[in-house]
Amino acid sequence: MDKILVHGGHPLSGSIKVSGSKNSSLPILAATLLTKEPCIVHGVPDLSDTHYMLQILTHLGAQVERASGTVSVTAEKTHSVAPYDVVRKMRASVCVLGPSLGRCKEATVALPGGCVIGDRPIDLHLRGFEALGAAVRVEGGDIKVFAPKLSGAVINMQSKFGPTVLGTDNVMMAAALAEGVTVIEGAAQEPEVVDLATFLNKMGAKIEGAGTRRIIIEGVAALHGAEHRVIPDRIEAGTFLVAGAIAGKGVTVKRVEPEHVRTTTDALASCGYHIDIGDHEISIFPNGAASALELTTAPYPGFPTDMQAQMCALLSISKGTSSVTENVFPQRYMHVAELKRMGAQVQLEGATAVIDGVDCLLGAPVMASDLRASAALVLAGLKADGITEVSRVYHIDRGYEHLDEKLSELGAHIERAKAA
Ligand code: UD1
Repeated sequence: MDKILVHGGHPLSGSIKVSGSKNSSLPILAATLLTKEPCIVHGVPDLSDTHYMLQILTHLGAQVERASGTVSVTAEKTHSVAPYDVVRKMRASVCVLGPSLGRCKEATVALPGGCVIGDRPIDLHLRGFEALGAAVRVEGGDIKVFAPKLSGAVINMQSKFGPTVLGTDNVMMAAALAEGVTVIEGAAQEPEVVDLATFLNKMGAKIEGAGTRRIIIEGVAALHGAEHRVIPDRIEAGTFLVAGAIAGKGVTVKRVEPEHVRTTTDALASCGYHIDIGDHEISIFPNGAASALELTTAPYPGFPTDMQAQMCALLSISKGTSSVTENVFPQRYMHVAELKRMGAQVQLEGATAVIDGVDCLLGAPVMASDLRASAALVLAGLKADGITEVSRVYHIDRGYEHLDEKLSELGAHIERAKAA
């Protein structure tokens, strides 16, 4: 198992290009199951999660070719059973349920594994399939959904913590091939949902309203092949901006959609950083002492839960007392205990982290526990005195394309080593 060693105290400067979005690529690759015809997806990042998704598609009968960031998938024939050993490594494998159900009118997928960030139910996905006319059974660790036919329905995707992103994706994909009109109320508005809808419409689907709380899908009899480039990864972009804030002398993040990271740039500007926003690039510069912040995560267009851990790392060394409230996954604070091992002063009060900024962090052996928490520890290590040794790096490799190499290009001293 690899670990990453971060030698703190080396300032970052220069520019870095953001990769294609992981959270767009996964459902878009799953959506290729909806047609017999070839689909081509560009900008797919080289991550273990995208590799797992391609393994699942191959297992389901698709022909998959990958050349650098371009993936071709032809699912001329497909079957509908995704077993545990291919599915367990990634929670997002649940998003093959919708397209398999749409295309085959049945799907069996083992209950997913993946990030350990509290209880992650999929009840709303299943309720959505039921509303479309499917029966749902859980048997032997598998979810089975099947329907003689799918019919349009009105479906609500709102949970008590906000709308479900992959649930919205799943229902949209199944409904694309249902009879009649489906209305998704309380839909997730994330840019990745819009990207999936754009791809489905290129395949011949009739979807309107993606990006709003109400998505309308007029079912069609069949979909055809399509070619698409996924949007830039807004969480990777935000992570590099926070890296620039923590340890930068001036860092430019290129190939970014500024609107998609607006809450992050707003938060960083409120802390006192100087931010320059261009058409597709954003630069961040230090601007005197960074100050504390009150931050609350919320579904898009709110501040993303996927940026919360990285901001906790930054606020640990910002002057004053900050508070961070996690509203989407209230238990998503595994990074806090590790940041404390590096000298951060953080108290958890329910879903709120109260952070008293310290002058400096100290390098320490720390353990990555989920994808974004691990990134936060690497970022903290950039500024810490001494060496921060982040173990269980496979979490980072699930969601960041060559994070250590990209940070090295900016001047960070980072090495990868095999854990003993
Ligand atoms: C997606 C993202 C993940 C991000 C999350 C929230 C992908 C591959 N992953 O995950 O990076 O952190 O959105 O922005 O795109 N919920 C229910 N019932 C359900 C489904 C969800 O109660 O059936 C709750 C969850 O517990 C959570 C909230 O809804 O509190 C949002 O979760 P959801 O949007 O579903 O997360 P994912 O789509 O799995």
